[in-house]
Amino acid sequence: MESNPLGSGSWTRRRFVQLGAATAVAASPLAIAQARATEAHRSMIGVAFEKRDPRIAVIGTGGRGTSLLGNLLAANAHVVAVCDIVPEKAQAAAAMIVKAGQKNPDTYTDGPHAFEQMLQRNDIDLVIVATPWDWHAPQAIYAMKHGKDVAIEVPGVTTIEECWNIVETSEATGKHCMMLENCCYGYNETLILRMIHAGRLGELLYGEGAYLHDLREELFSNAGEGLWRRAEHTKRDGNLYPSHGLGPVANYMGIQRGDRFAHIVSMSTPQRGLDEYRKNHLKSGDPRQSERYIAGDMNTSLIKTANGLTITVKHTVSTPHPYDRINLIAGTKGIFQDYPPRIYLDGQNKDETWESIDKWKEYEHPLWKREGEMARQSGGHGGMDYIMIYRLLQCVREGLAPDMDVYDAAAWSSVAPLSEMSVSQGSAPIKFPDFTGGQWCSRNTSPIATQI
Ligand SMILES: NC(=O)c1ccc[n+]([C@@H]2O[C@H](COP(=O)([O-])OP(=O)(O)OC[C@H]3O[C@@H](n4cnc5c(N)ncnc54)[C@H](O)[C@@H]3O)[C@@H](O)[C@H]2O)c1
Repeated sequence: MESNPLGSGSWTRRRFVQLGAATAVAASPLAIAQARATEAHRSMIGVAFEKRDPRIAVIGTGGRGTSLLGNLLAANAHVVAVCDIVPEKAQAAAAMIVKAGQKNPDTYTDGPHAFEQMLQRNDIDLVIVATPWDWHAPQAIYAMKHGKDVAIEVPGVTTIEECWNIVETSEATGKHCMMLENCCYGYNETLILRMIHAGRLGELLYGEGAYLHDLREELFSNAGEGLWRRAEHTKRDGNLYPSHGLGPVANYMGIQRGDRFAHIVSMSTPQRGLDEYRKNHLKSGDPRQSERYIAGDMNTSLIKTANGLTITVKHTVSTPHPYDRINLIAGTKGIFQDYPPRIYLDGQNKDETWESIDKWKEYEHPLWKREGEMARQSGGHGGMDYIMIYRLLQCVREGLAPDMDVYDAAAWSSVAPLSEMSVSQGSAPIKFPDFTGGQWCSRNTSPIATQI
């Protein structure tokens, strides 16, 4: 047994994962970067997509896959193949593609590994993954290994091992793996990002993001997410879905771009919401009555960044709560908070009250200026889904680097398993792995370029 894992010459970042949370607390970012430097890899930071009009395949054509497909078609994307374990769902997606005036796509429906046959084709450039969470990593890795760029749905991947696996595969293959974090492309999020870049909020200090969404009915549905998402609550206790709130805050703060998540502490309330809901809504003999839920109803996590900033991240989907992502960012010159959007800048008024952001329209993001009308028509969370898809296609079509890359996907995904580790250890601080191998310090480009 190794008494000092950091002293071992053969210690690698994978070994870091295997040693788990206890040593994670002890491992310094420098040690991780040094361990990582011993392994051959090339960085994917700033790597441009191969310039082309991508031929796209979609894996998972349920609620989300179908919605994204609508955005893709609205942006004139060329969708050549779709895959789902339910043939009717793949066929419905194919019908959408034909209705949009494109050739009938090939459908792959022969079981949970049918995507492999699809991804062995050499006429696919970009793969959209909108399947249940456990499938994101295997499907993304298979896609990259078969020469395709891939965009995975949130919450990205679910374990630290998977975080490293997507990073290593992306670096080894030179293919991108990005997370489809649509909230980063929201109207308010992109406007505030530009205000921050213009120095309006001063030096940033703290932020808060959340996913507060009453999903109880959906979790107990006999269709869609009810078929798989409730099961996560029987296996894990932590923040299971962090990136909708965290992604925009990470972008405001320039995480992976001069700062990075350093450590996390996390705590959960007891679980009561799902028990009570099923007691009131399911019949007594329903087999779901015997499930045991372990995910606390409200998880609250605190992240400290390397530069000393703090971020609060909250998650509840099992209690009555109006929809809210909080989306708060504060600095030396002011604070913005969403739901509803409001801002307070130093010296703004004498009675310390919030004001509307309407007078800051000059900071509207060029993506929204240019595509806002189309986004609102195409729909998807107020238009941000269209903006995200439009921007992804723009990056590939113009041969640009993606706004957010595999390092962002790994860092944002890692919050879920690290919060679980902290909760299980009495809210102990858990250090984040540095998925960039130390390059977060030197990279200073902005996520979602403010000039398009
Ligand atoms: N970004 C957002 O705003 C947002 C919104 C909703 C869902 N999501 C995410 O999208 C993903 C899908 O969620 P959803 O709501 O569409 O769920 P869903 O259950 O409606 O759809 C998932 C689909 O994947 C298919 N599937 C399952 N295993 C498969 C496999 N091995 N190969 C191919 N297909 C498979 C299912 O048959 C189903 O049609 C999840 O990761 C979810 O978290 C994101």
